[in-house]
Amino acid sequence: MSSGDLNSMQEKGMRVDGIESSPKLASRRRVLMHIIVCKGCCCGVTEKRKPSVPVEWLKREWRHRRLSTSITLTISEGCLGPCDLANVICITSPSGVVWLGQIKRHKDYARLVDWAEAVSRKDALLPLPSTFDSHRFDRFRSPLFGFEKK
Ligand code: FES
Repeated sequence: MSSGDLNSMQEKGMRVDGIESSPKLASRRRVLMHIIVCKGCCCGVTEKRKPSVPVEWLKREWRHRRLSTSITLTISEGCLGPCDLANVICITSPSGVVWLGQIKRHKDYARLVDWAEAVSRKDALLPLPSTFDSHRFDRFRSPLFGFEKK
């Protein structure tokens, strides 16, 4: 599904997952996407021989590039679950959830920030750079499960 399709669906009040939001709940802080960088019990813990997570650098870049109003960055001190693939990043957006694992190099974080800035400036979801293709993984046992509608 292209970002144009998504924008068209949003304009019509449609959701990709088919689940309706409560009309009573409308956050004033809606964003294009939400990036969660894990810094839990394993991710970024160099004592466990995991690569470091450049937390302060990420926060500084987010401020410097003024990304917060369009893209939320959360540094999670709670484990996101798949520690065996540390370091882990989870990206949520209207087009779904992307899980990235084994993020080891500072330049991977730099590419992520550059991409986030491009998304923010364009005000549209752009494809994740192909350099992350080898880092994508399925978090769930079956991609076929969905929330059942009553
Ligand atoms: S600490 Fe990051 S997935 Fe567990």
